[in-house]
Amino acid sequence: MKLDRLYQSNALDMLRGLPDQSVDLFFTDPPYSSGGLHASTRAQTPGQKYIGADVKTVYPEFSHDNKDQRSWTYWCMSWLSEAFRAAKDGGHLVCFIDWRQLPSLTDAVQGAGFIWRSVAVWDKTAGGARPRLGGFSQQAEFMVWATKGAVRTDHKVHLPGVFAERLSRPKSHMTQKPAGLAREVVRLVPAGSVVCDPFAGSGTFLAAAKEHGHRWVGCEIEAAYHASASVRLR
Ligand SMILES: C[S@@+](CC[C@H](N)C(=O)[O-])C[C@H]1O[C@@H](n2cnc3c(N)ncnc32)[C@H](O)[C@@H]1O
Repeated sequence: MKLDRLYQSNALDMLRGLPDQSVDLFFTDPPYSSGGLHASTRAQTPGQKYIGADVKTVYPEFSHDNKDQRSWTYWCMSWLSEAFRAAKDGGHLVCFIDWRQLPSLTDAVQGAGFIWRSVAVWDKTAGGARPRLGGFSQQAEFMVWATKGAVRTDHKVHLPGVFAERLSRPKSHMTQKPAGLAREVVRLVPAGSVVCDPFAGSGTFLAAAKEHGHRWVGCEIEAAYHASASVRLR
């Protein structure tokens, strides 16, 4: 497996190709299989689930987002176990998730062998989330942080627990994450580290890693997103 490459492949296949103890930071954002409380709503396309009817931009769809909670947790265990094998001792995992799947993800992260350390918050800011009549707006998503073994203290870094950043529109990916936040998170590991994102989407996390002077490797299964991320990473 060559570094500084974005493969078009299934995450599990790419992860299986990584050598043992070779990655310092897995920074990723898998399909949540979320967007609904019931099987019928979860089975909709990501565009139907995650994009409001008021938004006019049409984004390429992506697949693999329709698992029920049990099979999604099982699937996460599979790829997280490969990530655990490929992580260096003291390596980090930072994985995005929403409120619905947070408990399932933290189960899978620990089941795969990682030590769950905490949860950081992406605050989309008041203008970045639709208001909700009668209740709280869904203004946040979360980053589950875990390590393979003890936290390394030789790299002197302090990161905040809340990152407030509004995404500019139109986005490059339907469920894109903010670039400023990504630039902060890749500071978790010293420059020259190996950063891996097996669900790269538009390449936000790998672009931040490259910019910071890291080696990087990742994959994206959908041809349209693989193509646009490859251009971004060039
Ligand atoms: C939540 S999005 C990532 C968005 C990304 N963080 C960004 O800022 O653009 C998840 C991505 O994983 C891809 N994906 C879904 N299943 C996959 C799989 N089994 N292997 C690799 N990529 C997959 C989807 O096509 C989608 O682009």
